[in-house]
Amino acid sequence: MIESVLQHLPADHPWADKIHFFDCVESTNTLAKEMAKNGAPHGTVLIADRQTAGRGRLGRSFLSPGGMGIYMSVILRYDRAATDLMHLTCACGVHLCNAVESILQVRPGIKWTNDLVYEKKKLAGILTELIFTGSGICAIVGIGLNCNQLPEDFDPTIRSIATSATMITKQRPNRGQFIAQILQQLHTMDGRLFAQQEELMAQYRKDCITLGQSVSILQGDTAEHGTAIDVLSDGALLVRFDDGHEQIVNSGEVSIHGMYSYV
Ligand code: BTN
Repeated sequence: MIESVLQHLPADHPWADKIHFFDCVESTNTLAKEMAKNGAPHGTVLIADRQTAGRGRLGRSFLSPGGMGIYMSVILRYDRAATDLMHLTCACGVHLCNAVESILQVRPGIKWTNDLVYEKKKLAGILTELIFTGSGICAIVGIGLNCNQLPEDFDPTIRSIATSATMITKQRPNRGQFIAQILQQLHTMDGRLFAQQEELMAQYRKDCITLGQSVSILQGDTAEHGTAIDVLSDGALLVRFDDGHEQIVNSGEVSIHGMYSYV
């Protein structure tokens, strides 16, 4: 697959000589963290055909069978405070939508904060993790995208809420070309992250299918019902609860569900 990725990436792409391909790893994010601690530079890319312990947000697992999905992580180093990077997952979401649109000719929506969704089913997820090294802050952006799966390839527990590129288009996309497009989009995102934060967040609000929805916010054992009314510039969700009070919800803290469906 590495040959196919490189074939579809411009030879002078700044990240092209920093791509590492693995047949099988526990988790590209976990390995990327280790590599980042050992000094791997900005733009280091890890791609795996299969993961044995793929991870999602809030400690969930991300099933990653071989030959099916896209599992990749990118190491991004910034000389910034962590608070300046709060919108990174949203920016990646917008550019991952761009990549999907360019390959599949359909634009998915984003379920706040990090899931790409098409026709109410999950197509992809983003797991952003920050680590602090002696030389500043390092973000690991992990992307998992269902590519070649048919419904029967998904675990029964997620079959009704998962979709894939193949299920959407009735064709098998070229995974190498797809990954190359994602890398180009993430590189463009990297150039816009701080200079065009408002434009990125304006596009995020357009893509975000959670806005305007009735939502249930799960915090510990309690669930509170309200309406998602805005996404702030740092990616936090503004929710108006049924009793009228408003709360800013940060993605690391809560699980959010549409009250009437997966979205
Ligand atoms: C989510 O659904 O909450 C995010 C899923 C992110 C999965 C990707 S696959 C590549 C990278 N390695 C991981 O262990 N997780 C991310």
